[in-house]
Amino acid sequence: MRLNLNSILPAPEPVLNRRSRIIPVSDPLLNGNEIKYLTDCIKTGWISSLGGYVEKFEKGFSKFCKVKYAVSVSSGTSALHLALASLGIGRGDEVIMPSFTMVSTANAVVYQGAKLVLVDSEIKTFCIDPAKIEEKITDKTKAIIVVHIYGHPARMDEVLKIARKHRLYVIEDAAEAHGAEYRGKRVGSIGDIGCFSFYGNKIITTGEGGMLVTSNKRIKEKAEFLRDLAFSKEGHFWHKELGFNYRMSNLQAAVGLAQLERVEEFIKIKRRNAYFYNKFLKGTPGIILPPEEEYAKNVFWMYAILVNKDFGITRNELRAKLAAKGIETRIFFIPIHLQPVYSKICRGKYPVSEELCRKGLYLPSGFNLKQNEIKFISKVIRGTAN
Ligand SMILES: Cc1ncc(COP(=O)(O)O)c(C=O)c1O
Repeated sequence: MRLNLNSILPAPEPVLNRRSRIIPVSDPLLNGNEIKYLTDCIKTGWISSLGGYVEKFEKGFSKFCKVKYAVSVSSGTSALHLALASLGIGRGDEVIMPSFTMVSTANAVVYQGAKLVLVDSEIKTFCIDPAKIEEKITDKTKAIIVVHIYGHPARMDEVLKIARKHRLYVIEDAAEAHGAEYRGKRVGSIGDIGCFSFYGNKIITTGEGGMLVTSNKRIKEKAEFLRDLAFSKEGHFWHKELGFNYRMSNLQAAVGLAQLERVEEFIKIKRRNAYFYNKFLKGTPGIILPPEEEYAKNVFWMYAILVNKDFGITRNELRAKLAAKGIETRIFFIPIHLQPVYSKICRGKYPVSEELCRKGLYLPSGFNLKQNEIKFISKVIRGTAN
């Protein structure tokens, strides 16, 4: 059966009612030490990638993730690219990853000239389905990338078991899941490398920025080397390998350090938002609440729901209804195999990814979201708001 793309491709963005206060999908909290540390950078002139904040932020973040090393970079996308490059993955190699993710995960593989091999996701966790990985492994497979979608960890034990059996690297794309836990372990610390994003809507932000974390010294040293244009130790301006400028600036790290000081508070706010949504939305026919499996601590980066048929109206109709009340929402990712840039090279069937894309919606999940706003949003969804 041919897929009806119209049921998947995004409808035009609904018009937000701007007469009422707009309740945004997310907003950063920047009222800690951000200005103080930034001012220090400006006053001392340390504004590029040298300067104390980069090191302090890296040390603090490695501690937060419970790993030995953290290598700061310019974005989550560059963290993923650097991860693959540091593992020596390139042309002729295959990398397994879920189709249901942000385009960055796939781009990183293609930047290295490796072949993308997609796997479908689970409807329960939105993450890669471990039961569908092994059939995609060939003698060219070098790594599996898991993505901890919207703050919920993937099934790491199953993935690690497959990876060990076939001697594959595991990279965790934890761009959306700072502080999430799998059986008590922080995501990013479980595979060989973890990659984080600090874009403005993330759990902590540096404006733009990212981090690669690992407990492997060799990987850490290679990542630092490639991040900094592969400057040779033998002499300055001497390059024997192709490197990248993926450095984070001291200005970004200054913001990052201030954010990191409050990360536990930020995670509590995300979990509190989810607690109130769950309370007000529980039992609504046709609305599937976000997962939190028995093994998981979900950090609910975004409060992500599925709108099933028995809800009565479609996901897009619900979006329009919320927008009319000034409530901003986002649809779920459009799977990689349906992206025009990838549809020719990624064939195959990924029905769960497509279902997630058709039914998924995330609700306002910002740090400034009030309990009464969550109640109001829930009432609009349930059809009981005035
Ligand atoms: C799952 C996932 N991976 C990677 C990225 C890329 O991060 P960045 O935007 O910092 O490049 C994102 C960003 O939103 C993401 O959601």
